[in-house]
Amino acid sequence: MKKVLIISSSLRGGSNSEVLAHEAEKGAMDAGHEVEFLSLKGKNIKFCIGCLVCQKTYKCVQDDDMANIIGKVQNADALIFAMPIYYYELSGHLKTFLDRCNPLFPQQNKFNDVYLITSSYDDAPTASDRAVNGLKGWIECFEQSRFAGVLVGGGVNEPKDAANRKDLRQKAYELGKNI
Ligand SMILES: Cc1cc2nc3c(=O)[nH]c(=O)nc-3n(C[C@H](O)[C@H](O)[C@H](O)COP(=O)(O)O)c2cc1C
Repeated sequence: MKKVLIISSSLRGGSNSEVLAHEAEKGAMDAGHEVEFLSLKGKNIKFCIGCLVCQKTYKCVQDDDMANIIGKVQNADALIFAMPIYYYELSGHLKTFLDRCNPLFPQQNKFNDVYLITSSYDDAPTASDRAVNGLKGWIECFEQSRFAGVLVGGGVNEPKDAANRKDLRQKAYELGKNI
C-alpha cells in the first residue's frame, strides 16, 4: 500500500483535469492505496519570494495554506498533479505550487513516483510536452523522485467535457490503478 497524494490545480468549476484526477483517485483506491485528494481551489498560496530562508529553516516565511500542505507532499509515496494546459506549458497555479515546495529541497523526502494529468483543447499527443518538461525540471531537483507518467487529456475545453470522455476517464483510472 502506498500513500498517494493527488493535487488538482485547476481553479475552475467543472474542471476537466479534476474530473480525470478523480478517476485516477478511484483507480488508486481500488488498488488498495491510501489516497488523499487535494484541490487548490480556494487555497491561499502566494508566490515564492525567493528569500531562501526555507533552505535553512525548512519553513516558508509566508503564512498561508502551503503550511498545511507541504508536509503531505513530503510524506507521500506517490504524487499525481492535475492541471489545465495554459499556453502549452505548466499552468501558473501548479508552477507556483511547485516553487513553494522549496522548503523540501534541502530535506529528505519520501515521494518518488510523480505523475501528471493534463487537460487541453488541443488533442495532439504532444500538447503536454512542455508541461511535462517543466515538471521534469522540478523532479530532477529531488533525487529520490522520478517522472512516472503522463495522461494527456486532449480534446476537452468546456467545463465537464471530460465527463463525457470515457476513453480519457478509463486511462486516468488505469494510471491510478497501476501506481
Ligand atoms: C489561459 C488559458 C490558456 C490556455 N492555453 C491552452 C493551450 O495552449 N492549448 C490548449 O490546447 N488549450 C489551452 N487552454 C484551454 C484549456 O487547457 C482547456 O480548457 C482545459 O480543458 C482546461 O482544464 P480545466 O477544466 O481542468 O481547467 C487554455 C485555457 C486558458 C484559460
